[in-house]
Amino acid sequence: MKTVDLLVHSAAQLCVIPSQDSGPQRGPQLGELGLIQDGAVAIAEGRVAAVGLTRELAGQFRATREIDARGKVVVPGFVDPHTHLVWMGDRAAEFEQRIAGATYMEIMAAGGGIMSTVRATRDASVDELVAAMRPRLDRMLAHGATTVEVKTGYGLETGAELRQLEAIVALDRAHPVTLVPTFLGAHAVPAEYKSRSDAYVDLVIHEMLPAVAEKSRTLGLARLPFCDVFCEDGAFDLAQSRRILEAAQALGFPLKIHVDEFASLGGTKLAVELGATSADHLVTTPPEDIAALGASDTVAVSLPCTPFGLEHCEYTPARALLEAGAALALASDCNPGTAWNESMPFVIALACRYLRLTPAQALVAATLNAACALGLGDRAGSLAPGYAGDLLILDVPDYRHLGYRFGANPVAMVVKEGDVVAVNGQAVYP
Ligand code: NIG
Ligand code: FE
Repeated sequence: MKTVDLLVHSAAQLCVIPSQDSGPQRGPQLGELGLIQDGAVAIAEGRVAAVGLTRELAGQFRATREIDARGKVVVPGFVDPHTHLVWMGDRAAEFEQRIAGATYMEIMAAGGGIMSTVRATRDASVDELVAAMRPRLDRMLAHGATTVEVKTGYGLETGAELRQLEAIVALDRAHPVTLVPTFLGAHAVPAEYKSRSDAYVDLVIHEMLPAVAEKSRTLGLARLPFCDVFCEDGAFDLAQSRRILEAAQALGFPLKIHVDEFASLGGTKLAVELGATSADHLVTTPPEDIAALGASDTVAVSLPCTPFGLEHCEYTPARALLEAGAALALASDCNPGTAWNESMPFVIALACRYLRLTPAQALVAATLNAACALGLGDRAGSLAPGYAGDLLILDVPDYRHLGYRFGANPVAMVVKEGDVVAVNGQAVYP
């Protein structure tokens, strides 16, 4: 009998979430759970060794630790592929302004919005940034996120952007959640470059990108961070977005882009043309761009907390994206301006209602497809053998309670690479 580190067994339902041709579940095929009743999963050396029926695995493996998941549902850990977790301060006052009628873009044009968080964050040290992020990441973990992308973008000057990158890398090394860094120096045009946005784009291209590449090497990163741009009226136009992303690509950065959050500037087609790993937001995307995205390998990342957080009624046209064949993923967009939400189960609840995804579709979009949006589709987001031993035990009798219920945390236990790291809403890592 082979010995494994952990055997989770007797799950009422275990969702494997199989990949399709080693990639995401695309288009109308989205939602294949690989559901096993009375399921078990064996984890050895941090990875899934086997998955199947409890009676089969119990006869094959002796386990150092066993967890009885009777009456509960086991799913892969959530992957959150779009967050802005490195910030100081808050924007509660702007929330009140919006309730009184001001729009997000009006507040931004008046010098608030992203710039107000930049002012609060710019001078923070790496240690202060890590200390601000950690409790947020603990709450994300307690709600089931085991892999989280984090963007810089509240520095908007080289030194501050590099400190934010360093903080992300430091927290990744000190926390059980796997963090995937993204450089978002082009998040907003900082006040000191107002009406000189092309000069700021030059700074991003000629100073920041090489500095981020150099810093990534000194930090010992296995690969460069993603490079992202906020392509939007009032942020960076299409030509500026193209310049930044092409320069980043030439240096070897994989690409992401914020597109069609408010206005549609053509950023989705740019993402497809450049082979970006993902295009994110996708609210006002026109039919032609939906078709282009659907025919591409760029993952479509929807962030339903953002329209919800901004009290908007328009959401990602997810059904049209699926009909076009797109690989759809979900993320929290956790940030202090539009969407301070640390719960992927809440993202799923919104996606079921406003994107009209079934719970099965939303679950795949928040696991395997979200991993694909980070280029990690071969190692995270699934419980197939060889994938990371990252799983959740949900205190619900049926997977459809994800989405159906909201406002309380369904996650009873989080396992990261075979170790129990959160129990009943509390992170418990050493
Ligand atoms: O994805 N759109 C740009 N960035 C964030 C908002 C950041 C902020 O307001 O601080 C977003 O919604
Ligand atoms: Fe964002």
